Amino acid sequence: MAKLQNDLFLRACRREETERTPIWVMRQAGRYLPEYRAVREQSDFLTMCKTPELAAEVTIQPVDLIGVDAAIIFSDILVIPEAMGMELEMIESKGPVFHNPVRDKSSADKLKTIDPSTDLKYVMDAVALTKRELNGRVPLIGFCGSPWTLLTYMAEGGGSKNFSHVKKMIFNEPELAHSILDKLADVSAAYLSAKIEAGADAVQIFDTWGGNLSQRDFREFSLRYIEKIIANTKRTNQPVIVFSKGVHHSLGSIANCGADVIGLDWTMDIGEVRREVGSRAALQGNLDPTVLYASHDNIRLRAREVLDSYGHGTGHIFNLGHGILPDVPPENLKALVDFIKTESNSYH
Ligand code: CP3
Repeated sequence: MAKLQNDLFLRACRREETERTPIWVMRQAGRYLPEYRAVREQSDFLTMCKTPELAAEVTIQPVDLIGVDAAIIFSDILVIPEAMGMELEMIESKGPVFHNPVRDKSSADKLKTIDPSTDLKYVMDAVALTKRELNGRVPLIGFCGSPWTLLTYMAEGGGSKNFSHVKKMIFNEPELAHSILDKLADVSAAYLSAKIEAGADAVQIFDTWGGNLSQRDFREFSLRYIEKIIANTKRTNQPVIVFSKGVHHSLGSIANCGADVIGLDWTMDIGEVRREVGSRAALQGNLDPTVLYASHDNIRLRAREVLDSYGHGTGHIFNLGHGILPDVPPENLKALVDFIKTESNSYH
């Protein structure tokens, strides 16, 4: 495999010295890019995920067009429940929909036990092909959803406002919830291990809905299973990033869950979190994604505030506090990336 020409991201994950702060953004392979929309016009979302050539093409677009320091494999967190037998549809204006949600024991029993290296082979093929096509330009990130975030979609049947179905399950039938979460954790660890085996240089666990739980329930229903995934993922020195959204209350425990990097949403002050977490983990984030609607001058001003807040030294991976929004002009992201590349060296 080609030697990495730019390993800033991996060094920052390991809190090793870097010449400047690396940057990539969540959802960087997506609809804000006209080049993505051109590919997407030709095929539906899941076909793109399942066709390694297309997945590799859109994964590499932001590396070529925007100049980010890492690529993240184009896929979705919901391919795991789909492989377990749930019928997934991506509806244009609505997002993902599962037509037969899992809300009781009989529907949970129908979930297939899968082996990700064969049942999700198309993802591993996409990782391997993307690695080849990147040819060492930047590291490749693999990812999965947290068991809690997956269960949320599986029980709600899609996006949700009150999360009533998944909440009913954890409060009325906690054993059922735990048995599904446990199964998802096992599959996810095998899935991340297979992605690493296929060539992923780092992995990120997306816990988008962790913040819908109370502090105690976050520990019981989300963090515990994230810990299990990290403990069971086979890796040599590939860093693990945990991104839980809306969990100010639990950063101290996330720092102890085995993660190398903690992803922060934009509502927290990254410098304060750095003081709390200390040398236990690197930090990733955390510019408000809607700052990218502002003028280039104001984007640079707000980005500098994040750099200033983190302060001097290694262990910071610049990112947004959540995914880039589909209606952001690509040149605004380019302005952010160029700014971090030229201005962050004075923090090192
Ligand atoms: O980050 C990347 O560029 C890699 C690809 C990636 C996608 N989804 C592609 C995608 C990643 C890492 C994800 C993760 C994901 N998927 C999460 C966790 C991160 C987050 O944003 O909170 C979640 C919750 C999902 C589930 C999901 N997939 C939703 C809610 C939606 C619809 C909303 C939306 O943003 O469109 C998707 C669809 C999806 N996943 C798209 C993309 C590029 C848009 C689909 C399209 O092109 O029509």
